[in-house]
Amino acid sequence: MSEPTAQSPRPENTLRQLEEAGALSHFASSIAHEVCNPLSQIVLATDLLAGPRPLNEDLRKKITGFLRQGADRIDKAMKQMLRACAPIETSMTPENVNTLLDDALAASGAAAAASIHVEKHYGGSLPPVLVDRQHVTEAITHVISNAIDAMMPTGGTLTLKTELKVFESSEREGWQRQSWFRAGDRAVVIEITDTGHGIEAAKMPLIFEPFYTTKPAGKGAGLGLTVAKKIVDLHYGRLEINNRREGGVRATLTLKTASHI
Ligand SMILES: Nc1ncnc2c1ncn2[C@@H]1O[C@H](COP(=O)(O)OP(=O)(O)OP(=O)(O)O)[C@@H](O)[C@H]1O
Ligand SMILES: [Mg+2]
Repeated sequence: MSEPTAQSPRPENTLRQLEEAGALSHFASSIAHEVCNPLSQIVLATDLLAGPRPLNEDLRKKITGFLRQGADRIDKAMKQMLRACAPIETSMTPENVNTLLDDALAASGAAAAASIHVEKHYGGSLPPVLVDRQHVTEAITHVISNAIDAMMPTGGTLTLKTELKVFESSEREGWQRQSWFRAGDRAVVIEITDTGHGIEAAKMPLIFEPFYTTKPAGKGAGLGLTVAKKIVDLHYGRLEINNRREGGVRATLTLKTASHI
C-alpha cells in the first residue's frame, strides 16, 4: 500500500480535518446560498403574481423572468453537485495535449483577463494521449480557473508547459494496477503554474475533497478539483498540486501516452 500523500489523505482523518477546516459548515452555507437566495426570489415573485395588485403586461413579464432566473440558478447548482457525484462516461480518442490545453485556456477565459500574462512552453511532436477529450479539457479548465482565481485581482503569470516523460523506475498512483507507471512507460506531463497566493500547508490535504473551498459562498462550490481528480483517475493518470518555493502553485498532470495505456 502506498503511503498517504497530499493527494490521498487518510480517510479516517478526512472528516475531522474537513470539520476543523470549517469545510462542512461551508458546504452547508454554500447550499444555503445557492438554493435559498433564488428560492426567496421565487417566493417573492409568486406572491406578487398571486397577490391582489393588478399587473400590467410589462410587470408580469418582469416577474416571470425573475421566477425563471431563480429556478435556473437552483437547477444549475444542483446539477453541478450531482455531476460531481455521478459516474462519468467516457469516449476515448487520441489527442494532442497542446490542443487540449489551448481549449481549456480558452474555456477558462484566462486569455481575456488583461491582468493575466500567459506563457506557453509547449513541447513539439508530443505523442498523443488516449483520452476523453471533453472531460480532460474540463479537468484542465478547473485547474487553470483556480490558478486565475488565486492571482486575482492583482493578476500575475500563468505558465503552461508540456513535455514527454519516460519513467526510469516504476511509481504507484492509486490502487488500480492500470494507474501505476512502470519503468519505460511514456507519459505526457502538463504543468500549470501560477504566481498567486498559494495554498496554506495545513489545508493541502483537503483540496481534492468535495465542497472544500476557501472562496466565498456563491463564488466557489469546492467541486472543481474533486471533478478534475475523478477525471484524471479515470484515465489512470496523476494530478499533483504543490506550492512553489517562489510563490504560487504548480499543478502537474501526467497522462500515459496512447501506446502505454
Ligand atoms: N492554484 C491555486 N492557488 C491557490 N489555491 C488553490 C489553487 N487551486 C486550488 N486552490 C484551493 O483549493 C480549493 C479547492 O479548489 P476547487 O477547484 O476544488 O474548488 P473552488 O475553486 O473553491 O470551487 P469551484 O472549483 O467548485 O468553483 C480552492 O478553494 C482553493 O482554496
Ligand atoms: Mg475551482
